[in-house]
Amino acid sequence: MIDRDGILAWLRETDPTRLSRLYRRADAVRREHVGNEVHLRGLVEVSNHCVRRCAYCGIAATNDGIERYRMTEEEVLACARQAVELGYGTLVLQAGEDYGLTREGVSSMVRAIKRETGLAVTLSLGERPEEDLVAWREAGADRYLLRFETSDAALYQAIHPAMPGRPDRFAILGRLAVLGYEVGSGVLVGIPGQTWESLANDLLVFRQLDLEMIGVGPYIPHPATPLGSGRFPVAPEGEQVLADEETTTKVVALTRLVRPDANIPSTTALATLDPSWGRERGLLRGANVVMPNLTPPAYRQLYEIYPGKACVNETAEACGSCLPNRIRMIGRVPGKGPGGRRRTVASGALSSVLG
Ligand code: 5AD
Ligand code: FES
Repeated sequence: MIDRDGILAWLRETDPTRLSRLYRRADAVRREHVGNEVHLRGLVEVSNHCVRRCAYCGIAATNDGIERYRMTEEEVLACARQAVELGYGTLVLQAGEDYGLTREGVSSMVRAIKRETGLAVTLSLGERPEEDLVAWREAGADRYLLRFETSDAALYQAIHPAMPGRPDRFAILGRLAVLGYEVGSGVLVGIPGQTWESLANDLLVFRQLDLEMIGVGPYIPHPATPLGSGRFPVAPEGEQVLADEETTTKVVALTRLVRPDANIPSTTALATLDPSWGRERGLLRGANVVMPNLTPPAYRQLYEIYPGKACVNETAEACGSCLPNRIRMIGRVPGKGPGGRRRTVASGALSSVLG
């Protein structure tokens, strides 16, 4: 089993021939444990309102230069119907931490989606109070995504102002598992101040936590954020993690090695770095999920967590016909059905590690 030194050596590796060995190994482990299906998760960016002040994020409360929107239940349901038409098995509802999306409002949305479409429903709505998470699970939500962003506590605190009295993200992840959600988390790659050592620790955390889904993407500077304005220090020369495609796909590959049966997306942020081949490269180096955007075009532009987001000017139909072709082109199969995690390696459940 790969240890911390092994992980660190791969993260620092620059030789393309040696790296291709890592990628081949990750691809083989991916095939053995989760097969050739690539699951399609339709993403609906339900609201760009947010009460939090994450220093990297373009829709943080601190950005007063953007127009804010919140979709209605009927608009979200229209996206759900489209997901069914396009053959997706899962709908992901993502938003800033927006209390205008009320406990009851989201519950009603989830119930309507389940009643009308039967799609698997994933929520990604931030660090909401326990009562909300309980209600949404009861309403039928299947999964929840909450990245811990970095396991370096000092770096996390510097870029992620806390809300007083709130549990930390690891505690929330444990509670989500206890409530019966399939739980997803992940990190940003190349945050200013992030070191190779701390990124190696992130991968050890992935190994320790029994997450069903692990998403990693490059940090992309947004000019209207404190982090994007260059006011944060970077790590010393040679220690700063690069926010590039190679580093991100190394992390995808290593994530596959430490969590062979997890669902791992090839992220939109990765596709943003290289629109022509970034998503495919992620899929060829360990990933088995993609998240086509279903957000209506007018809102899509406004959900700018980072600039230049891939497919921002496309329609849901365009991505819906493009992506399955891209998947077939690299010899894989567009997934059918909800594509939940099927355990192939024994490990302690997240609820017992963190709950
Ligand atoms: N660049 C890349 N990813 C970002 N996210 C937020 N801001 C950025 C950015 N500037 C990611 C965070 C969050 C996810 C929804 O989007 O990791 O968890
Ligand atoms: Fe969006 Fe190809 S995936 S157009």
